[in-house]
Amino acid sequence: MSQAFIDLFYLLAAALFILGLRDMSHPRRAVRGNLFGSAGMLVAIVVTLLDHRIVSFEIIIVGLVVGALIGAIMAYRVPMTGIPQVVAVFNGFGGGASALAVGAALEEALKGGFVEEISVQFTISSVAAGLIGGVALTGSAIAFGKLQGLIPERPILLPGRHVINVVLALICLGLSIWLILDPTSSLPFWLLVPAAAVLGIFLVLPIGGADMPVVIALLNSYSGLAAAGHGWVLNNSVLIIAGSLVGTAGFILTVLMCRAMNRSLTNVIFAGVGAEVATTAETEDIYAGRVKSASPDDVALLMDGSRRVVIVPGYGMAAAQAQYVVGDLVALLEERGVEVEFAIHPVAGRMPGHMNVLLAEADVPYEKLKEMDEVNSTFQQTDVALVIGANDVVNPMAREADPSLPIAGMPIINVDEAQSVIVVKRSLSPGFAGIPNPLFVADNTLMLFGDGRDMIQALVVALKEF
Ligand code: TAP
Repeated sequence: MSQAFIDLFYLLAAALFILGLRDMSHPRRAVRGNLFGSAGMLVAIVVTLLDHRIVSFEIIIVGLVVGALIGAIMAYRVPMTGIPQVVAVFNGFGGGASALAVGAALEEALKGGFVEEISVQFTISSVAAGLIGGVALTGSAIAFGKLQGLIPERPILLPGRHVINVVLALICLGLSIWLILDPTSSLPFWLLVPAAAVLGIFLVLPIGGADMPVVIALLNSYSGLAAAGHGWVLNNSVLIIAGSLVGTAGFILTVLMCRAMNRSLTNVIFAGVGAEVATTAETEDIYAGRVKSASPDDVALLMDGSRRVVIVPGYGMAAAQAQYVVGDLVALLEERGVEVEFAIHPVAGRMPGHMNVLLAEADVPYEKLKEMDEVNSTFQQTDVALVIGANDVVNPMAREADPSLPIAGMPIINVDEAQSVIVVKRSLSPGFAGIPNPLFVADNTLMLFGDGRDMIQALVVALKEF
């Protein structure tokens, strides 16, 4: 196949990737976007395989079959809530593969005696792919372990970790300069990859489990950059374009998540948020004697006479797997002429779109899910705000100026402006940020203590009896 044809098909693949990304920015078009992206990848793979530089197809075919099998099994078996772990695995392997493939290209160039062909572009791209790929490989493995419960979720703050990180970064820098200045040996590259891998471990260990989605988005960006570096080494345009798209998309998602929490990326990576959690005794001291609790019957009575109910789901709804009974509750309320909407905070739960995915699983119509900015002005006309397992995203303390609060300045859902607020959770324990929530003792708040699924189920039963 001529180079012109290869370039043309690579351009087509790149256009399909861009169309796919555009469509994936909206849930309604996301399936089509996925198909565009997959089609682009198919074109890129087939063209690369037909390229005359491929020497042997055997290993590639075995790799394709084994990879496709593992992918198909994962797609069927992994629950929706396990997607962040899957993304972490993909990022880690993507980054690691780029680092190894670049190492192989370097060895090939050295073996063939083409040292004079090893340009500065080649070595700079190699160190970028080796460094970023190494960090992405182990950083993703730690992120996977934390989300899967194999490693403690809390931030692990080792003494002297900042010094260790600086020393490791300096070692990586030194090895990179060595390879760029003297590309006659691959030794600095093969020392750089493990040094970067150790750095990846030390960078991710001190980050709390609930911040892992941000870390995974960032590592996703890194794996894209490693692939782009790999593309520069091989002079492969589609790899450069695809890698840059992944790198940018991952970075934009990282920034959006940080902004929704009103935290800087530096704070997410270095502050160890989640390491200090107010104890139950401390929080109960704050709430002492001021909490009003209600029974499912009381709440059913309140809802039966309502015109508008806004449901605010949070991490606890996911933990309780309450989405199906929540779907039943919505159907029941609507049968009685109550207008029901959901208020979705951008960082409710533990991954981007966590609440949307769970509610879609329970067939809640997409139109009912309103983003925070859209719904916040409607709470004064809302009879009941039903908070299910959400805490930080409805904590009015976020509005306070105290910068020492981990959620200071984070935009929240204004449930406190509703006529009545019902909070469903098991105890007065804090949420991810580890701070008390004055909403629980507000005049218009009633607490419905218990597991999210059990309580909503009891509410459905009580409502049916009216
Ligand atoms: P959280 O503030 O973490 O609160 C969740 C609440 O759910 C807890 O207070 C807990 O109280 C309750 N809960 C747990 N299991 C429950 C069950 N089985 N039934 C009923 N309630 C249960 O959750 P949120 O309001 O969704 O806020 C998310 C937090 O995660 C924010 O601080 C956000 O910044 C952070 N975060 C999110 C993301 C993304 S992308 N979503 C990324 C990084 C960080 P009990 O133990 O008393 O039941």
